[in-house]
Amino acid sequence: MIFTVAIDGPAAAGKGTIGRALAARFGFAHLDTGLLYRAVGAKGGDPVAAAVGLVPGDLERGDLRSLEAGQAASRVAVIPEVRAALVEFQRRFARAEGGAVLDGRDIGTVICPEAEVKLYVTASPEVRAHRRWLEVGGDQALVLAEVRERDARDMGRADAPLRAAADAVVLDTSEMTVEAAVARAIAVVERALEGRG
Ligand code: CDP
Repeated sequence: MIFTVAIDGPAAAGKGTIGRALAARFGFAHLDTGLLYRAVGAKGGDPVAAAVGLVPGDLERGDLRSLEAGQAASRVAVIPEVRAALVEFQRRFARAEGGAVLDGRDIGTVICPEAEVKLYVTASPEVRAHRRWLEVGGDQALVLAEVRERDARDMGRADAPLRAAADAVVLDTSEMTVEAAVARAIAVVERALEGRG
């Protein structure tokens, strides 16, 4: 079965949590595409060379979840040659036999516009920054500033800017528990699977 769930949305919206839960529930493979950009940014040097030469081991670094790695990721993510170098791998993952969930910024719009399910997961900047702060600690105001800066760069870039696909189901999780958000997402996927007969 070829079946793709595309999850897009701004920083720390809960895409990863929902993606992992959907993958576990339906037995799909899961790819956190943000990790690809984080790994490219963390490698340093020429970002295009880093993207072209990216190997699975690069995704294992322990420092990829930091605020700095997020900033570095969004800076290299504006470079069209970096994005182009990562497209094929993501497309193949999305359309591999057995079903796949990918979360990122451009999955439903650029990587897999034919995805059977598209979710746009969002929440207010304050709620998202609070959630990220619970993960990384430090100065809460700094985390909010980081989230806002990254969102502005991701939405404002010319190549594959962050936006909801026209046919995406929007899930605003500002006032939802994780369980409620996951339940909504599961219901959307179940409906799409039933629709296929
Ligand atoms: O976990 P969080 O939502 O904060 O970020 P992430 O998904 O790990 O993505 C880190 C950065 O990579 C984003 O701010 C984007 O600039 C970039 N990214 C992208 O351009 N396209 C994707 N499909 C995924 C991430």
